[in-house]
Amino acid sequence: MLVLGVETSCDETAAAVVEDGRRVRANVVASQIATHAPFGGVVPEVASRQHVATIVPVLERAVSDAGLTFRELDAIAVTAGPGLVGALLVGVETAKALAFALGKPLVAVNHLAGHLAAAFLEHADATPPTYPHLALLVSGGHTALIRIDAPGQTRLLGSTRDDAAGEAFDKVGKMLGLGYPGGVQIDKLSATGNREAFALPRALPARDDVDFSFSGLKTAVSTLLSGRKAPPEGAELADLAASVQAAIVDVLVRKSRRALVREGLGHLQVCGGVAANRGLRAAMAAAAAEDGFRLYIPPVKRCTDNAAMIAAAGSQALQRGERSSVELAVDPGLPL
Ligand code: KG4
Ligand code: ZN
Repeated sequence: MLVLGVETSCDETAAAVVEDGRRVRANVVASQIATHAPFGGVVPEVASRQHVATIVPVLERAVSDAGLTFRELDAIAVTAGPGLVGALLVGVETAKALAFALGKPLVAVNHLAGHLAAAFLEHADATPPTYPHLALLVSGGHTALIRIDAPGQTRLLGSTRDDAAGEAFDKVGKMLGLGYPGGVQIDKLSATGNREAFALPRALPARDDVDFSFSGLKTAVSTLLSGRKAPPEGAELADLAASVQAAIVDVLVRKSRRALVREGLGHLQVCGGVAANRGLRAAMAAAAAEDGFRLYIPPVKRCTDNAAMIAAAGSQALQRGERSSVELAVDPGLPL
């Protein structure tokens, strides 16, 4: 089965073709980062307009990269939420028009289910997680620990009470003058910094839950900066970046370990844009070696937003018999 995935929930216009839910035949991502960078974050209206300008060439490119014509596709999967409403509309309306014109089935995909499905795409040196397993979903909009018993069968165990992990990276990055998106810059700087140079708070450590909170970290960095004459630079900036990254990563690792024990699970998958973070990948690998759980983190390009993960989740949904009609509407607040 050849499924075309379409993703426009935020600032990536993406299309991909996935065969049998596993094999990535084409994966095209047109990033809008350069467009939004001068504003220090994603501007929703600008994102929608750019999706409108880019979506058709991106779709054409994905289908031709897969060595196919549109008529050879078996189905179309599209992100219907959560995300920016105007951005989602572009993908959903285009996918609906395409499905209608081609007479092919259409299926709506939850963006978060897409991130969770990325682990099931074929990858040379890893076998996908088995069920049941735990997922740590860390992105710009979400931070959650989810128990997954079967495809589409999920239970939310804990989530952030304020900022998402990616949001914390990006907001602190902005305070440090690192540009957008801050997460990637903090990751780069951390490579040469000392993670113990600045003592930063780890939220909710003693609580027996698996929830997160990152607003205190943001405040701590803001207080630290306001007490100084000049912003840190050079080696000191790298030290601060490394300390911020360590504070975020420590909490993500600690709560994931706690959830694995509490749920009696031996497999963890980490997904979402923040799963691209090298500090998080290394710390999770160390925890897995120490505790003896099996860890799966997709390759970096499948952690950040892409449409291959949407096609993979769409394939799972189609197999369960799900179909969407041409009346499909976007839902910016869609829960998992
Ligand atoms: O999953 P994603 O591409 O979009 C959402 O669904 O939100 O995640 C984007 C988030 C941004 O906050 C970005 O800063 C963060 O992922 N991110 C990273 C890294 N790469 C992307 N954060 C830390 N380190 C990275 N290497
Ligand atoms: Zn995402």
